[in-house]
Amino acid sequence: MRFKDKVVLVIGGNSGIGRAAAEGFGAEGAHVFLTGRDQTTIDATVAAIPGARGFRADIADIQSGSDVLAAIAQAHGRIDVLFVNAGIGAFAPAAEVTPEQWDQVHNVNLRGCFFAIQKALPLMPGPGAIIITGSIGSVAAVPGNVMYAAAKAGLRAVARTLAAELVGKGIRVNMVSPGPTETPIISRTEGVPGEAVAGLREVMINAVPMKRMGTPEEIARPVLFLASDEASFITGIDLYVDGGCVEL
Ligand SMILES: NC(=O)c1ccc[n+]([C@@H]2O[C@H](COP(=O)([O-])OP(=O)(O)OC[C@H]3O[C@@H](n4cnc5c(N)ncnc54)[C@H](OP(=O)(O)O)[C@@H]3O)[C@@H](O)[C@H]2O)c1
Repeated sequence: MRFKDKVVLVIGGNSGIGRAAAEGFGAEGAHVFLTGRDQTTIDATVAAIPGARGFRADIADIQSGSDVLAAIAQAHGRIDVLFVNAGIGAFAPAAEVTPEQWDQVHNVNLRGCFFAIQKALPLMPGPGAIIITGSIGSVAAVPGNVMYAAAKAGLRAVARTLAAELVGKGIRVNMVSPGPTETPIISRTEGVPGEAVAGLREVMINAVPMKRMGTPEEIARPVLFLASDEASFITGIDLYVDGGCVEL
C-alpha cells in the first residue's frame, strides 16, 4: 500500500502500460484519476479500479485536460503523483516525412506531454513525483523512426530540465523508457500496415537480448517504484526497462 490516500493522475491511463500502472496504483491504495481518448477503454479501466475516475482528453489539445484537473482540485486539492504516459508511434523514412506527420507526433509525444505537466503543476506544491514515459527509441538508431525518436529525445530533455527546476519543491522527476512491450501500440502505429505487424514484432523480439517483449506490468512496476518513497533519493534519471536492449 505504498500509495495509500495518494492522489495519482495517469495521462494515457486507459491502455497498455498506462492501464497497468493505473491498476497498480489503485491496488496500492491511490485515488486514481486517468485520461485517454477512447471512452470504451476509459470506462473499462475505471471499472477495474475501485474509486477511479476517468476523463476524455486529447493531450494534443492543451486545454482538454482542464476537466480532470478541475475534478482533482475539487475532490483533493492536490496531485501527489503524475504519470505522463500518453504517446503514439509513427514510422516513415526520413525522405517521406511530412510536416503534418511530424507535428502530429510531436503534438502528442513532446508538446502535449510538456503542457500537460505545466497545467498540472499548480496542483503539485510538493512533495511529489512525476514520471514520464520515454522510449529506448530516443537513443536507438532505428531507420524510419525519426519523428518518434526526436520527440522522445526531446521529452527526455524536458524530464531532466524539470527535475532541476522542481527539486527545490521536493518533486522528483524521472523517466521510464520501455523497450519493445506487448501493447496495442504497434498495431495502431501509422506507417505500419496490418500485415506488417507480425513481421515487425519478430524483428523487435530478435533485437531484445532477452528474446522477448516486455509486458505492460513489467514497465508499470518500475513506474510505481519511481513514484514511491522507495525512490526518495532518485531524480532526473531515465530508467531503461528493455530486456537489455540499450546496455547489452
Ligand atoms: N509498447 C512499446 O513497445 C513502447 C516502447 C517504448 C515506449 N512506449 C511508450 O509507452 C507509452 C504507452 O504506450 P503503450 O505501448 O502502452 O501503447 P497504447 O496501449 O497504445 O497506449 C497509449 C496510451 O496513450 C494514450 N494516447 C495516445 N494519444 C493520445 C492523445 N492524443 N491524447 C491522450 N491520450 C493519448 C492512449 O489513449 P487512447 O487509447 O484513448 O488513444 C493510451 O492510453 C507511450 O508513450 C509509448 O510511446 C511504448
